[in-house]
Amino acid sequence: MSAENDNVRFDDGGAAATVAPAQVRNGTPEHAAPAAQSAPAAPAAPRVVFHEASQVGASEKVALGRGLDVGTANLLSVRQGADGDLVVMRERNAFLEIPSQFVGSREMLTKLRVPYVQYKDRLFVLGDAAFNLANMFGNEVRRPMQHGFLAPGEQEAIPMLRFIIHRLLGDPQVEGEDVCFCIPASSIDRDNDTVYHEGIAAGILRKLGYSPRSMNEGHAVVYSSLAEQDFTGIGISCGGGMFNVCVAYKTIPAITFSVARGGDWIDEHVARVMGIPKVRATAIKEGDVNLMDPKTREEEAVVLYYRNLISYVLQNLKQRFQLARDVPQFTDPIEVVVAGGTSLIGGFVEVFAQELKKVQLPIPIAGVRRAEDALSAVVRGCLIAANLSQQPTPKK
Ligand SMILES: Nc1ncnc2c1ncn2[C@@H]1O[C@H](COP(=O)(O)OP(=O)(O)OP(=O)(O)O)[C@@H](O)[C@H]1O
Ligand SMILES: [Mg+2]
Repeated sequence: MSAENDNVRFDDGGAAATVAPAQVRNGTPEHAAPAAQSAPAAPAAPRVVFHEASQVGASEKVALGRGLDVGTANLLSVRQGADGDLVVMRERNAFLEIPSQFVGSREMLTKLRVPYVQYKDRLFVLGDAAFNLANMFGNEVRRPMQHGFLAPGEQEAIPMLRFIIHRLLGDPQVEGEDVCFCIPASSIDRDNDTVYHEGIAAGILRKLGYSPRSMNEGHAVVYSSLAEQDFTGIGISCGGGMFNVCVAYKTIPAITFSVARGGDWIDEHVARVMGIPKVRATAIKEGDVNLMDPKTREEEAVVLYYRNLISYVLQNLKQRFQLARDVPQFTDPIEVVVAGGTSLIGGFVEVFAQELKKVQLPIPIAGVRRAEDALSAVVRGCLIAANLSQQPTPKK
């Protein structure tokens, strides 16, 4: 099987997997016919366009309502432009303090168009620029989030997150414009405070003049990528800090959970066993690896940890099905859609399908596919949710 397959179908007997050509759709299909009352009605097959993170020009007319993906590795925003295109912006969720002896070089940073902010008499470079600078000087970036949640002990986490979010969203077009942002489900393997995390993110958005609402990250994948299946199936966001799983029946989440392992966990383990720096492990993983055909010892280690992580997630999903009392009875086979940066590696869908067969979920599965434009699947789901409730309310 080749690395290009991003859609594995299971035959009826659940025996050998057959591979169908990739299904690529833009946005959410026009003919989506959700059954639940408040089901999303997405814009008709919009194009997804990536823009550089910058503030939205004041004169630019865009539809109301925004989506925001608050991720451990990346923050993404999306809005719908006047031409109907979905405009996605991405920025790494990272920052770097400029040492005090360089604080005078502010003009230089402006000239070089390096995004920076002054905070309490200190200068910080934000996002991708921070990451690039850190790599150049052999430093580590600082990250506001860890394992899907605000990083405990990172003092500057909240103000830096606010600056990056403002860069991505700009100011609201009307007071109280709706923004739907994603929050992780509680982790099964880490004691996370979802209430605090959600409250801080909502507080940042409110201060910027938006009306925030939140949605579960896996549920956002269901919204953006399972429209043709009446929003029934399993959406999994495979991120940097965690995997978020949502089993939905006609838009309604039946099972949601997360594991506090993701791309970072793979990088850490590969680095440790191979005796290489973590950045090197990340670079290898994000390079031209095919999980079905590793070429070096390092790539073999990447495969091993990927398999282990996928199997761990699926074992936990199986357990959830066994324990939960009110899980819907799926009589027809349902689809699994994977999204997020960690799903981008070559061979991911094939390995996922193999592990799925091993674990034998107690429900019929039709197949596994990677979401179209997998990196923006969560934020596009958030936009659909924001559009469902777009009612500007006066700012208090
Ligand atoms: N081509 C690629 N191959 C493999 N991994 C990749 C690739 N591109 C990005 N990644 C990994 O994807 C991860 C980031 O994915 P994503 O942006 O979906 O995470 P996030 O939403 O920020 O995190 P989370 O949802 O866990 O909070 C990183 O671990 C990164 O190394
Ligand atoms: Mg994510």
